[in-house]
Amino acid sequence: MKNKITFFKEAIKNIRTSGTVVPSSKFLIKRMLADIDFDAARILVEYGPGSGIITEEILKRMHPEARLFCFEINELFYKHLSGYKHPQLIMVKTSALDIKEVIQKHGFDAVDCVVSSLPLAIMPPEISLSILEKTYDVLRVEGKLIQYQYSLQNKKDLKKVFGQHVKIQFVTLNIPPAFVYFCKKVQ
Ligand SMILES: C[S@@+](CC[C@H](N)C(=O)[O-])C[C@H]1O[C@@H](n2cnc3c(N)ncnc32)[C@H](O)[C@@H]1O
Repeated sequence: MKNKITFFKEAIKNIRTSGTVVPSSKFLIKRMLADIDFDAARILVEYGPGSGIITEEILKRMHPEARLFCFEINELFYKHLSGYKHPQLIMVKTSALDIKEVIQKHGFDAVDCVVSSLPLAIMPPEISLSILEKTYDVLRVEGKLIQYQYSLQNKKDLKKVFGQHVKIQFVTLNIPPAFVYFCKKVQ
């Protein structure tokens, strides 16, 4: 599963939920994770880990007392990541829409950071907006959502939810080049 060919096969079979056939580049991952205070963060969330290319980098960087919740709806990707059996990783085979219920079920009420690869642009607009609103709701104050996208299609929704606290960077060294949104919840 680590190799690109296997991700390609599963992603192409499920193109309506994967939104791409190529995993994120190391340049994109580095840029996304550079903004996270791993010394301080204790509850991290990843939406859409796929074959785990970003997950592995988060697990390497996170504090030994931190937890990473990964939401993945694809059966094969979910099983693959469950096989890591990493003590800090909690795999959840459900939609990102359920973030609040899942976090609460595990005894937490807020999260420090959400890293998302969800293909927002190809989701029904009411679903993508609802995921953003639920994410905002569950973030602690000063908590962050870091999301990449291949277009600026959902910029309006991100601004609607996070107000002025949305910064955008463009990463050219990725297939295709991607926009990264850094969104902060400010009281
Ligand atoms: C573009 S792939 C990202 C894979 C990997 N994180 C990367 O960056 O290369 C998007 C992933 O989101 C998952 N996904 C799509 N809709 C989802 C949802 N509502 N909740 C959780 N995961 C979802 C897909 O199954 C797929 O694995």
